[in-house]
Amino acid sequence: MPALVIIGAQWGDEGKGKVTDFLSREADFVVRFQGGDNAGHTVVTGGVEYKLFLLPSGIFWPNVTCVLGNGMVIDPAVLLDEMDRLRAGGHSTDRVRVSHAAHVVLPYHRAIEEAEEDRLGEGKIGTTRRGIGPAYLDKYARIGIRIGDLLDSGVLSEKLKANVAYKNMLLERVYDREGFSAGQLIDEYLGYGERLRPYVTDTSLLLDGALRDGKNVLFEGAQGTMLEIDYGTYPYVTSSYTTAGGACAGSGVGPTRIDAVIGVIKAFTSRVGNGPFPSELHDETGQYIRRKGKEYGTRTGRPRRMGWLDTVALKTAARINGFNWVAITKLDTLAGLPSVKICTGYRFSGRVTTVAPASTADLARCEAVYEEFKGWNEAELKRARAYAELPAGVRAYVEAVEEAIGVEARLIGTGQDRTEVVIKGDIGFGQA
Ligand code: GDP
Ligand code: IMO
Ligand code: MG
Repeated sequence: MPALVIIGAQWGDEGKGKVTDFLSREADFVVRFQGGDNAGHTVVTGGVEYKLFLLPSGIFWPNVTCVLGNGMVIDPAVLLDEMDRLRAGGHSTDRVRVSHAAHVVLPYHRAIEEAEEDRLGEGKIGTTRRGIGPAYLDKYARIGIRIGDLLDSGVLSEKLKANVAYKNMLLERVYDREGFSAGQLIDEYLGYGERLRPYVTDTSLLLDGALRDGKNVLFEGAQGTMLEIDYGTYPYVTSSYTTAGGACAGSGVGPTRIDAVIGVIKAFTSRVGNGPFPSELHDETGQYIRRKGKEYGTRTGRPRRMGWLDTVALKTAARINGFNWVAITKLDTLAGLPSVKICTGYRFSGRVTTVAPASTADLARCEAVYEEFKGWNEAELKRARAYAELPAGVRAYVEAVEEAIGVEARLIGTGQDRTEVVIKGDIGFGQA
């Protein structure tokens, strides 16, 4: 099973980092293929919590080469800082490879995003303000600066001069904000280019060679299906293809090379930023889950919006991604509640449907319909080493999800640490 794609099935923060780290034990390559440092992926090992923004979550394994693919938008200052931080913690970053074709996030991207979010006021998207949307905008407008450009002073100077002139017009004349100095940016970004030079390569070629050699390759999604640019809750989405299809385009690997797609589902739902959320909890139960699950944005520290698990949205995710199996995380967070709920349908226009409407405006009009389940005990959950040892309530919950979405769950998360996992079925690799 050499090539697996790992995808967030909800609105991000499902535990992709933990699942990727867990499967990385037997991986040779772990590839990020979209997004940028809007992502925050957590790995907890040996009592230490690491938050990764750009580096793939395989970085803690010496057997893994970590690839930042062409579909990403990369802030080089953040990447270099992240690499320094890891080295300071005793982790090697020698096996990091960055695509020459990935796009660069520049300070004017962040400044424009700030200005635009502020202008929108109440109607804002609630982005992470990391410049992700404006960087993708430049990519598709064909004026973006790519990582490879940072290695060529002539090309970088020419492109940055043209871009800064244009961005300054926007910032100064439209938004009444301060512009940037092209000269300063050229010096700064050439400096980043020099530091990144040893890591930059044609990563499509690298991955092709790896797959031909039968190596194990994991593709680690960022954000989640419901934040995807086309099938998410547009316009309250991120600006990239967060779904399985994005793995190929964003890494330069053909679809025929992918063996399986894995969905990561959190046992409840969270969302950061604005947009519809039918199963949202506005009561004390929501606050309890947020506190217990430490549900605060990894990137921005914002309290995450909380809700019950939504199998209507998950069915859409299973369809768009073609999940072969799913991992369900954070069942321990729900432990101790007398009962838990799953949203199994939406009440819309006077009738109940189990198919999510295509229109975001219609989704905002949907009211969640729930099925209630008996809660479970945390100590019993934590003791379990095999699926059959899990509390009956957990098994009923997991099996209800499997039935609703028509996909088998094969990994169950029972705690934050990388070791707190129960394997339920064949996970391809990562098994001891
Ligand atoms: P990602 O963006 O999908 O990688 O997820 P985040 O790291 O942003 O958020 C998930 C949070 O849940 C992190 O703090 C993880 O360490 C934590 N986590 C992942 N799986 C589990 C689990 O099974 N139980 C508990 N308690 N925490 C988990
Ligand atoms: P990981 O990879 C949760 C959300 C933002 C906002 C919307 C657009 O950790 O799951 P952007 O800055 O991307 O233009 O913001 O997307 N968002 C995330 N929410 N987890 C993430 O990443 C997110 N990345 C972006 O909150 O609603
Ligand atoms: Mg996250």
